[in-house]
Amino acid sequence: MYRTLRCDPKLFEKDLLGRTCIVTGANSGIGLETARQLVRQGAHVVLACRRVDAGKEAAAAIAGGRGTTAVMPLDLGDLDSVRRFARAFLDQYDRLDALVNNAGLSVFSLQRTVDGFELMFGVNHLGHFLLTELLLDLLQASAPSRIVIVSSLIHAGSAGNRLTIHFDDLGYEKRQFAAMQAYGESKLANVLHARELAKRLEGTGVSAFSVHPGWARSELPGSSLVRFMQNVVPRPVSPLLTLMSTSLVRFIQNVVLRPVSPLLTLISNEDGAQTSLHCLLDDDAPSHSGAYFSQSGILYSDKACRAGGWPMRSPNENAHDDALARRLADVSRELVGQGT
Ligand SMILES: NC(=O)c1ccc[n+]([C@@H]2O[C@H](COP(=O)([O-])OP(=O)(O)OC[C@H]3O[C@@H](n4cnc5c(N)ncnc54)[C@H](OP(=O)(O)O)[C@@H]3O)[C@@H](O)[C@H]2O)c1
Repeated sequence: MYRTLRCDPKLFEKDLLGRTCIVTGANSGIGLETARQLVRQGAHVVLACRRVDAGKEAAAAIAGGRGTTAVMPLDLGDLDSVRRFARAFLDQYDRLDALVNNAGLSVFSLQRTVDGFELMFGVNHLGHFLLTELLLDLLQASAPSRIVIVSSLIHAGSAGNRLTIHFDDLGYEKRQFAAMQAYGESKLANVLHARELAKRLEGTGVSAFSVHPGWARSELPGSSLVRFMQNVVPRPVSPLLTLMSTSLVRFIQNVVLRPVSPLLTLISNEDGAQTSLHCLLDDDAPSHSGAYFSQSGILYSDKACRAGGWPMRSPNENAHDDALARRLADVSRELVGQGT
């Protein structure tokens, strides 16, 4: 059994009054718990959510701390929505102390964003890449500031199949689509993004980290299962599943998975937020800017990694390749229309 890594309780006594943070995908799971703790400590947290109603529900659920919240719409699968979010944020705020690129999804079939990118690469990486670029000047003006990018241990692949970035076919137009591989590639892009940001921002007081949050009992396992079922059930049943999907996800999360969580070594969402919070709050974290921080995880195929580490060396050598990280940043900049 591997010990769940938790923040030093002293970090939760830090006063965050006057600090402004953005958490993407803050309406559920790990993002909600990250936002809750920051609000508890006095920060003003902008919940950047695809569904504003769900964001407002989340804001109400975490109200009562010393801090405050605002909900702003952000669909990372639509680059115009990312630009609108950034414009609205920059109009309303004159500082940004922490950007938590937390939102993410995992799907079982080849789907595309509004702009035509493969959905997981588009939402998990490109949407966040553009968001970060648009907020970078303000992050630098507010330094010391931090960027946390929530990745996954899936970025590592396995010893026989280390994942990389396929620049010749980012959109799965030539390759056979493989859901887990596509998710893993988007999460490798997250790790490389943090690495490249750290290099580019050296000396500016802005630090960047990538994170594996652990295998948490968020809506992600439930919604992945529902999406999988939608693909395999006969066509007449599929719309019914879509109609019931929200209740079904909550049922899987709270009824099906809860009793078997210890057996599966699933952790709570609160524990799932610990790695991001450590990167946000620990005084020593900026001296590891660019590094990968991992919760413990039995799903690592490399046994040596299962205890996790804050920070930890990724078993995927491609995650340490600066040339790959730089090329990904250049290509991403072109794809999101920020090329020079
Ligand atoms: N749970 C795990 O075991 C685990 C393991 C490794 C990594 N992660 C990573 O942890 C992060 C948080 O996930 P979670 O586990 O907390 O899952 P979750 O409860 O499903 O939360 C995911 C969040 O991302 C949001 N999102 C999805 N697509 C979006 C889009 N196009 N634009 C804006 N927001 C979008 C979701 O919004 P809606 O509610 O509107 O869908 C939701 O708020 C993700 O990056 C995930 O890949 C999770």
